[in-house]
Amino acid sequence: MVEKSDDGILKKLLNSSSNSNLNFNTNNGTDNEGPTTIRNNNSSPPPLTPIVESDSLHERVGEYKDSERQFSNSNNNSTNSTRDLNISKKAVGVDIGTSRIVSARIGNDHKELTQSELNAFFMLPYSQISQDLLAKNKMNYLKIKEHLSVYGIHGQVFANMFNGELLRPMKDGLLKSDEPYAVQMIKEITSLVVGKASELGNKLCFSIPAPKTGQESDLIFHEAILKKYFVGAGYNATSINEGLAVVLSELAHENYTGIGVSMGAGMCNICFSFMSVPVVTFGLPQGGDHIDQSVARVVNDSITRVKVIKEETLDLSKTPKNNLEQALHIYYDDLISKLVNSISTTFSKTENLPKLNKPIPLVLAGGTCIPGGFKVKFDKMLRQVELPIEISETRLATDPLRATARGALVCAGTE
Ligand SMILES: Nc1ncnc2c1ncn2[C@@H]1O[C@H](COP(=O)(O)OP(=O)(O)OP(=O)(O)O)[C@@H](O)[C@H]1O
Ligand SMILES: [Mg+2]
Repeated sequence: MVEKSDDGILKKLLNSSSNSNLNFNTNNGTDNEGPTTIRNNNSSPPPLTPIVESDSLHERVGEYKDSERQFSNSNNNSTNSTRDLNISKKAVGVDIGTSRIVSARIGNDHKELTQSELNAFFMLPYSQISQDLLAKNKMNYLKIKEHLSVYGIHGQVFANMFNGELLRPMKDGLLKSDEPYAVQMIKEITSLVVGKASELGNKLCFSIPAPKTGQESDLIFHEAILKKYFVGAGYNATSINEGLAVVLSELAHENYTGIGVSMGAGMCNICFSFMSVPVVTFGLPQGGDHIDQSVARVVNDSITRVKVIKEETLDLSKTPKNNLEQALHIYYDDLISKLVNSISTTFSKTENLPKLNKPIPLVLAGGTCIPGGFKVKFDKMLRQVELPIEISETRLATDPLRATARGALVCAGTE
């Protein structure tokens, strides 16, 4: 089952509070702390100390927890090829994504357990009353200098309440260099879905994107920071290319031979694997975020609204009904076209591709491939480019939002 979007969960929370008792005291003056200043989208004064009716917030957090519970139950019902494998219960797989961090492990009942958290945060100016309120409502927050960073899905609840900007530690698959709290915040957010190792040296595998030409050193930094964090939490940590993780999750019955494509928020990752060995890996630095931003710009609407419409109603097999839908179709077409063309050029210039005696499958994962009609559109456009390898079929991953974490688990849990 495909998870409801964060905005979906959020809408549920916020609908219940559309007439909420939230008032904001905005007479606290400005903050001169440079990088830690609140970044607000609109021209109204930045949100300062929230005076919140505590019961109302309790209610919303309670509803949020219910949504998460349903989410976990649906995970437990999911079936996937990892079930066929003998995976250690001590192993953990982690998808470090631009928009979400997802962990996967095998639970006591031998079923897969996944946990997911929004990879984002919202900055509030510090006040004791705000801090007490966050603590009382068991919200995820961190005091950073003169600010409170509310992170994960709770950060999005606050961003929507304040109509402010949700910050992210990552962009285009990597830690952001211009976000002063990126490293600190990604560790906090990751800790929500990956606890300390139950035994020192338990195996953990986390996803990394393919290196970008000319920016290889950025990936070295990103990978080293995460590895150091997981090692510090007691794990024997290794990394896996995101496209290869998709292959390990979805192509067990094909001896891990085929093409894995993960189309996420920040980028697309592609891996051609032969018997689990990555032969070609590369990335395209565009994904769902680029679609949202481009559509919002041309139809003069907010990115948040475009994202909600995209996630909740877009069907690429149907004729667009309005400008916004038309723009979504156009930018989806553009992304798929760039992707299939880069698959064609990259594969064509790769020397010594393995000789295959039969066509191989291509499997699509990541949130961007979820809309109705996506697979058919992708397959049609793929068939129009030249490829040195014959593709038997284009498939959708069983659970596109969790395939990378599951593949990382396969990598961590099998010798
Ligand atoms: N139902 C849906 N329909 C369309 N798009 C969706 C849906 N659900 C999520 N998305 C989009 O998928 C993207 C997130 O996908 P995913 O979680 O795979 O990315 P990520 O792993 O965090 O990012 P990346 O791999 O690029 O670092 C976002 O752009 C989101 O808007
Ligand atoms: Mg991803």
